[in-house]
Amino acid sequence: MPAMNNELEPQVPLEAPEQELPLSYARTLSWLSLLFILLTNLALSSFISNSARETLLLKQKEFARLLVDNLNNQIFRRFALPTILARGRIALRQPTQYEHLSRVVTSVIQGLPVARLRIYDFSYLVAFSTAIEDVGRAGLANPRLDEILHGGEPISEIIASFPAWQAPFRLPLKPGTFVLRVLAPLRGEPLPGHDDVPIMGALELTQDITEDYERVLAFQGIIVVLCLLSSIILFALLLVLIHRSERVLAERLHKNRLLEKELHSNERLASMGRVVASIAHEIRNPLGIIRSSAELLQRRASASDTGTSRLLGAIYDESVRLSQTVNDFLDYARPRKPRQDMVDLNHVLDQVLAFLEPEFLRLSIEIVRDTGSSSCVSRGDKDLLYRAFYNILVNGQQSMNGPGTITISASHVEQQGDQDRLPFVELRFTDSGPGFDSSILEHIMDPFFTTKDQGTGLGLPIVQSIISSHGGSIILENAPEGGALVRVLLPEIVEGNTGRNDG
Ligand SMILES: Nc1ncnc2c1ncn2[C@@H]1O[C@H](COP(=O)(O)OP(=O)(O)O)[C@@H](O)[C@H]1O
Ligand SMILES: [Mg+2]
Repeated sequence: MPAMNNELEPQVPLEAPEQELPLSYARTLSWLSLLFILLTNLALSSFISNSARETLLLKQKEFARLLVDNLNNQIFRRFALPTILARGRIALRQPTQYEHLSRVVTSVIQGLPVARLRIYDFSYLVAFSTAIEDVGRAGLANPRLDEILHGGEPISEIIASFPAWQAPFRLPLKPGTFVLRVLAPLRGEPLPGHDDVPIMGALELTQDITEDYERVLAFQGIIVVLCLLSSIILFALLLVLIHRSERVLAERLHKNRLLEKELHSNERLASMGRVVASIAHEIRNPLGIIRSSAELLQRRASASDTGTSRLLGAIYDESVRLSQTVNDFLDYARPRKPRQDMVDLNHVLDQVLAFLEPEFLRLSIEIVRDTGSSSCVSRGDKDLLYRAFYNILVNGQQSMNGPGTITISASHVEQQGDQDRLPFVELRFTDSGPGFDSSILEHIMDPFFTTKDQGTGLGLPIVQSIISSHGGSIILENAPEGGALVRVLLPEIVEGNTGRNDG
């Protein structure tokens, strides 16, 4: 007998610690990606809107420069030159000259978005202005006026009432919030024989660009909102995706853990089974000796010694029952590989019924047989099939607990195989007992499940193992007319087809 090893000792469950889901890093990743998408989108939108603003300002500045050039030209040709020719010098203090210049300027800037125009003289005073109250005032110009009066490059500047970043929060903007001011030298034309262009003063043009600025702001707003929206939608999609995959993963993990557990307990059961089977095997022989010795002693005991004979009878009966249990157990724990003979199922049934007949007669159990005259041939092991039918019939007899009827019928059916439909024999065993208790139906096939005091709970598991080793199946039901119905399906060999159901 093999030494008992520590296979039977309780083992530490292998249950994995509740670990974090592998996808939880994806959550962090999705938040990071939201941040990334948001930042990129914001950077992109500020780049787009800034370049839109720059373009607008550039266009405005170009336009203002052109206007200044044009004004310069018109003032020189239509005012400065005629005045010098007619009067010898320019003196804007004289109302006629001032009005003349005013007419020229008005005709040029009429209809154009010009808020104000000033001309400064060399003493930095306002010599001319479209706002008459400025005339004669000092200190109104850009500090670099001197540079301009000495031929410096024109200066364009944007003057805002408040920092530009506050603009989006102060909408709508008041007119004049953002103005563009261009300061340029007011030039004459070079005298014949001279290269250098005389400078007559400085021209300052002021344009209100608040409305354009507001339009750019609106554009900026739209871009930012669109970017935010697209980020949020992207992020939501990402979250949904992660959530779904997390759920699927969690389900799989759960299933895997269950399977792992089941596998583990199966392994333990199997190793336990192996040990118990070897013990049972060792018990079988001494048990046989006890049984035959008891039988022998009973025969030898004198008829007068009823006490001894009764005790020996009990020893005999119990050892018969015990060896039946040991045999059942060994049949279940170490199933034999079925032989592959041609077996006539009707013939096997005949043999089982012949064996059970005396007992059934004693209990007034009637057998109604409707297995037809045609042969039901299967390939397999007639001893094992005998065992299976015997177990089913004995279960029926035990369930009726007295007189009753067991009906056995056979029919030919077809079942879907791997490729095409295959012929099967269906044997139906119906008894007139109480039928299967529906509350225990799902456990009936479990090994060692029994509702009987003297039962081993191995009858049906052995039947199932035999039938499935023959490529068949067993179905437990309750018959419509009452009583248990056991359906056994076995592959059938029809004439001309003998090589199908090996295994
Ligand atoms: N024909 C039947 N009618 C009602 N119940 C049955 C029938 N056959 C089996 N059972 C139920 O199934 C259980 C398991 O049967 P089985 O595996 O043969 O073990 P055992 O006969 O040793 O109890 C029985 O204890 C019984 O409760
Ligand atoms: Mg049984």
